[in-house]
Amino acid sequence: MTSRLRVRRKARRTQTLLLTGLFLTSAVLAPVTASAAPKPIYQDPKQPVAKRVDDLLRRMSLDDKLGQMVQAERNGATPAQAARLRLGSILSGGGSSPAPNTAESWANTYDAYQRAAVDTPLGIPTIYGVDAVHGHNNVWGATVFPHNVGLGAAGDPALVQKIGRATAEEVSATGIDWDFAPCLCVVRDERWGRSYESFGEKPEDAIRNSTVINGLQGGSLNGPASVLATAKHFIGDGGTTGGDDQGNTEISEQELRAVHLPPFQEAIKRGVGSVMVSYNSWNGVKDHGNKFLITDLLKNELKFGGIVVSDWNGIDQIDGQTGFTAAEVSQSVNAGIDMFMVPHDYVKFLTLLRAELNAGRVAPSRIEDANRRILTKKFELGLFERPLTDRSYLETVGSKEHRDLARQAVRASQVVLKNDGVLPLAKKDNKIFVAGKNANDIGNQAGGWTISWQGQSGPAIPGSTVLDGIKAAVGKSSTVTYDREADGIDAGYQAAVVVVGETPYAEGAGDRPDDLSLDAEDLTTLAKVKATGVPVVAVLVSGRPLDIAKQLPQWNGFVASWLPGSEGAGVADVLFGDYKPTGKLAVSWPDSVAQEPVNAGDGKTPLFPHGFGLTYPRR
Ligand code: BGC
Ligand code: BGC
Repeated sequence: MTSRLRVRRKARRTQTLLLTGLFLTSAVLAPVTASAAPKPIYQDPKQPVAKRVDDLLRRMSLDDKLGQMVQAERNGATPAQAARLRLGSILSGGGSSPAPNTAESWANTYDAYQRAAVDTPLGIPTIYGVDAVHGHNNVWGATVFPHNVGLGAAGDPALVQKIGRATAEEVSATGIDWDFAPCLCVVRDERWGRSYESFGEKPEDAIRNSTVINGLQGGSLNGPASVLATAKHFIGDGGTTGGDDQGNTEISEQELRAVHLPPFQEAIKRGVGSVMVSYNSWNGVKDHGNKFLITDLLKNELKFGGIVVSDWNGIDQIDGQTGFTAAEVSQSVNAGIDMFMVPHDYVKFLTLLRAELNAGRVAPSRIEDANRRILTKKFELGLFERPLTDRSYLETVGSKEHRDLARQAVRASQVVLKNDGVLPLAKKDNKIFVAGKNANDIGNQAGGWTISWQGQSGPAIPGSTVLDGIKAAVGKSSTVTYDREADGIDAGYQAAVVVVGETPYAEGAGDRPDDLSLDAEDLTTLAKVKATGVPVVAVLVSGRPLDIAKQLPQWNGFVASWLPGSEGAGVADVLFGDYKPTGKLAVSWPDSVAQEPVNAGDGKTPLFPHGFGLTYPRR
């Protein structure tokens, strides 16, 4: 349609030229040709961003402005639909990948949305968001880093910054400009299904690792491979009663400010470009409708100048009824949300927002503020100058350099919790049995938010499993025998490595309100190995501490591996002592599920305290 328009305009111009013919001088004709017309201020990269925003806002219609505040799902809006409605943003939710799922086809998809957007009359580029929460985890072949719970244990902010940079490069290879990371949640109860997205239970754990923001955004948003970061979820997501995902955080304002706010203050100091509102309630009121939290606290008191984005249909939760209403739209806009992640109901959202504005229940100044914030980031990112994918980054996706970095992160995140001398394992003249459902399952070891939203067991991604790492580590004089259920083990082995734990989950699906025990398969495998008398090294691959106090006395060694991701070989590096363990717990390890919530400073005695972790003695 736009190209037809252009053709028509051109035809009219030709007609005019023919009519005026030779009577006009070239000097009079000059302004008619587009190339000689002065560039609008907003299109001039030499102008300051604030001036460009002002200029653009003056040219935008109400439709343009309302559309700018909407973020739709890739799988719910074609490039043409998004452009026609002037939608400001597109996202890929967990597992929303183009087919085939290659970095290149992601880039093609991105470019298709971007081309349609810049082909509209004002040519405002779209901004595309994704959850790259442990590497660019939706993309086949990407480097998958340990989930945050492991990075919190690594206690190495510089490493985490490098991970942010590597992630930004892989994200940039697919064109994408906006990452819904990091989660700066402070997990206070590990029964919560999102515990692994947290760097730890103390605000300091998230503060320290907020260096990932600098990695993602780079030195300047306009720089090469810079991706807009998102501090999420504002606020109180890790503090819900019972660890209930999207539940109610029942704490005083003083505690909210002391425990959950500091990581966001730090993120703002680091220039984070966006903040995502949380699904949870605070003392019974949903954050998505809370003006005090979003406008008074975040925007006014903390002076956050970036984009406040809603969570996925988060505005629909304000009144507790399914399907969002006009009242929920105006309440959330008035609360201070700028960009609305309404993945599939964007037409309904636009209709309701326009009606609420016309009825005077939403102030035009609120629409201006939202647009100003969104457009400012688009200009700062250089999207008007370079809207399309820089494909030179394609070669970084899953590169050796990034995988080496991920392997270092895996090593650094291992926490040795028990060792009677069985560790490190000898590489020479050893006879090792490896068992357990998580020993040779890269899907389990990557966890949720990997290729799909919930993640999946099995060969979900390319990379190395813990077993692969063990096999590669030993010398020719050693043997490694593997059976998932430990069939065939006998007393003739010198050591058994039993890799147990959780299978993938994300968000509420991972809530375990009254049980954090090992499953029946794990307990059976462990019992079978124990019965042979072979020394047991238990390796726990899980998104959080599990209830293992009863099994612990039967183990000679115990390592918390968390969710290491694509480079399982890093676990073996620690088991064999190629890397001396340095990881320390960033969460208190409960002595039973009944002890939850248990956190440093609460007077309870956990099985292992926050900060605990052994290393190997000198040999
Ligand atoms: C999407 C996720 C999203 C979730 C919200 C899923 O279908 O894939 O990205 O977080 O829905 O409920
Ligand atoms: C999650 C967010 C995520 C969003 C988009 C939601 O369900 O809570 O963390 O960024 O989906 O996938």
